[in-house]
Amino acid sequence: MVGGQPLNGEVKISGAKNSALAILAAAILLPGKTVIRNTPNLLDVKTMLRVLRALGLRAEYSASQPNTVEIWNEDVRHVAPYELVTKMRASFFIIGPILARKGLAKVPLPGGCAIGSRPVNLHLKGLEALGARVEMEHGFVIVSARKLIGTKVYIDFPSVGATETVMMAATLAEGETIIENAAREPEVSDLAGFLNRAGAKITGAGTEEVHIQGVRSLNPVEYRIIPDRIEAGTFMVVAAATGGNLLLKNIIPDHLEATIVKLKEAGLLIDIGSDWLTISVRNGIKATDVKTLPYPGFPTDMQQQFCALLALAQGTSVVTETVFENRFIFVNELKRMGADIKLEGQSAIITGVPFLSSAPVKVSDLRAGAALIIAGLAAKGETQIEDRDHHVERGYENLQKKLMALGAEIKIV
Ligand code: EPZ
Repeated sequence: MVGGQPLNGEVKISGAKNSALAILAAAILLPGKTVIRNTPNLLDVKTMLRVLRALGLRAEYSASQPNTVEIWNEDVRHVAPYELVTKMRASFFIIGPILARKGLAKVPLPGGCAIGSRPVNLHLKGLEALGARVEMEHGFVIVSARKLIGTKVYIDFPSVGATETVMMAATLAEGETIIENAAREPEVSDLAGFLNRAGAKITGAGTEEVHIQGVRSLNPVEYRIIPDRIEAGTFMVVAAATGGNLLLKNIIPDHLEATIVKLKEAGLLIDIGSDWLTISVRNGIKATDVKTLPYPGFPTDMQQQFCALLALAQGTSVVTETVFENRFIFVNELKRMGADIKLEGQSAIITGVPFLSSAPVKVSDLRAGAALIIAGLAAKGETQIEDRDHHVERGYENLQKKLMALGAEIKIV
C-alpha cells in the first residue's frame, strides 16, 4: 500500500465476528431451520460453517440474501473434526451445545495463537460444575453427562468464551444456573438475545451475574447480529492515524464507549448519533495512557491498533495489556517502520515520532494485521504487508474495498 494521505468518506460497519462465531455454535442447540442475518462474510465464519457441516448440520450463506446464514439442524454428531477445530480456536465453542444436546461431546483441544496460550480450563471447569465428566484422549476433550444440573458457577476470570460455553450448556440443564464473574461483552449479550429468542430463559447477560433457567428444548429462530465494535474502532483509528474525516454507519455507540473516550483524550473530534458517528483530527494526535480490561474497559482487541496510532502521537504513552500474555508481539514489526516502543513487563512505552517510514512487515495475528495496515496507511511511501495466513481476511469483511472507497491506495498481491 502507499500511505501518507488522509482517508475521508463513509464506511458501513459489518456484523460482529465474535457474535457470529458464538451464535453459529449455539445454533447446534436449535432443531429445525435457523436464519442469522447481518453475518459478516469472513474466513472464520466460513470455517465455523464447515465445522457445523462436519457435525451433520446443513449450514451455508444464503445464495439469495447477502450476509445471511441458513442452518438446517436435525441431528448432531458428537465428534468434531480435528483439523477444523485446531484451525480456528473459536470452534471450541461447539462443546457446550453438543454436550447439552447429546450428553456427550468429543472436541479437539484448541491450539494457542500468537497472542497467547489461550487455555480452555475455565470452559471445562464450568461444564464440570454442571455435572459433566471431563477426560482428555489423543488431543481430544471428551465431556459427558447423562443430565446437566443447574448450579452456581464462578468463573475465575471474566472469560468471554467460558461465559458463553456455560451459558449455552445451561440453557438445557435442569434447574437454574447462576454464572458469577461473567464476561459482560456485548457479544455475550447478543448470544443471550439469540438464545432467548429461541425460548431460553436467560437474564442478566451483560452484567457480571447471569441467570439461566433450564428449559426442555429450544426452537429455531431468525436473528440479526449486532454491529462489530472492533471493526468500528479500527476504522476510527484509521481516521485518526491518516488525519482523515470519517462517517461510520451501522454502529451501536454504547459499545464503543471506552474507545471513544481514549480517542477523545488523544485529541480526536467525535460526533455521535444513534447509529452513526463522525471522527476527525483537530490538531495532531496527543499521547495518552491505555490499559486493556474486560468489557466495559478498553478492549484488548483494540490495543494493537492503538499502539500504531500512539506511535505517531506528540509525547509518550503507556499501553498496558492485562488480558493476553503475549499481545505485544507485533511491536517488533512496528519498530521496523520507525516506531519508538520499549516493552516493560505488561506495558509498552511508546514515544511518538513525527512519521513512520514504510517497510516490509509480517502479520502475526488478526489485530496485528489491522495495526500494520493502519501504520502503512499513515507512513509515507509504499509498505508491503505479508499475511500468508490471511489473518486480516479472517476478521475484517471487505477491508481492502472499504479502505479503497475512502481513498486508500492498497492492493492485495
Ligand atoms: C474472545 O476470545 C474473542 N474471540 C477475542 O477476540 C477477544 O480478544 C477475547 O474474547 C477477549 O475479549 C471470540 O469471541 C471468538 P477470553 P476468548 O476467554 O473467549 C484466559 C479477536 O481478535 N482464559 O475472554 O478466547 C485467556 O488465556 C479475538 O477478535 C483462560 O485462562 O477470550 C485470556 O488471557 C482475539 N482460561 C483471557 O482469559 C480459559 O478457559 C481472556 O480470554 C479461557 C480464557
